[in-house]
Amino acid sequence: MRCLLIGHTGTLGKILYEGFSKIPEIELITASRQAGDYHVAIDDSESVKALFAAVGPIDAIVSAAGSTVFKPFSALEPADIQQSIESKLQGQVNLVLIGQHALNKGGSITLTSGILNREFIPQGTSSALVNGALEAFVAAAAYEIGGGLRINVVSPNALVGSWESYASSFRGFIPVGDAPVFAAYEKSVFGIMTGQTFIV
Ligand SMILES: NC(=O)c1ccc[n+]([C@@H]2O[C@H](COP(=O)([O-])OP(=O)(O)OC[C@H]3O[C@@H](n4cnc5c(N)ncnc54)[C@H](OP(=O)(O)O)[C@@H]3O)[C@@H](O)[C@H]2O)c1
Repeated sequence: MRCLLIGHTGTLGKILYEGFSKIPEIELITASRQAGDYHVAIDDSESVKALFAAVGPIDAIVSAAGSTVFKPFSALEPADIQQSIESKLQGQVNLVLIGQHALNKGGSITLTSGILNREFIPQGTSSALVNGALEAFVAAAAYEIGGGLRINVVSPNALVGSWESYASSFRGFIPVGDAPVFAAYEKSVFGIMTGQTFIV
């Protein structure tokens, strides 16, 4: 099974890289802007087209890439929202719209949202907007996508690996460990479910 992981060098991506690397039937292919087997900027559709043309047919796309802007609401500018949309939302939507044509029959796409559209923290409004949109997109796309393809999104809580820097903003949250996070992505890649948001 050829699996393309985008964002493998990040806090989340490292968990997924380590997990998928240990699965013998997976041939793991990595990409990000600055590292990996291929370089891609997911917010640039031409870059995403070039990525899939270079990678060739695959069986799974897993995205741990993209970012949102954290700022106090009174300081949020339209450009901050635009940046969040272009990176985490449009970037992952690009992976779906372009990547669907590179997937073999029965293949899967797994995106990443996050807890911040269900529970709220200071400065988290752009994340709430993007995560909610991603989950709606995935739920609808699952009905329309052809070729026996499946599409899901994983919504992690704050990760243990980010806790040192996140703890003061996420007071009262319990960070999620690597094993349950990886399990959600594994379930999406190897399971039969589609259109789901897997909350961990
Ligand atoms: N960390 C958490 O606790 C947490 C919790 C819930 C959800 N999430 C979500 O998980 C995702 C990853 O978070 P993270 O904390 O792992 O971020 P991170 O540590 O900043 O890593 C981001 C990864 O994505 C790549 N990347 C970033 N922008 C890209 C772009 N435009 N095109 C291609 N690759 C790009 C980066 O590599 P390059 O710089 O080389 O491109 C890096 O590999 C985000 O959507 C975040 O909202 C994170």
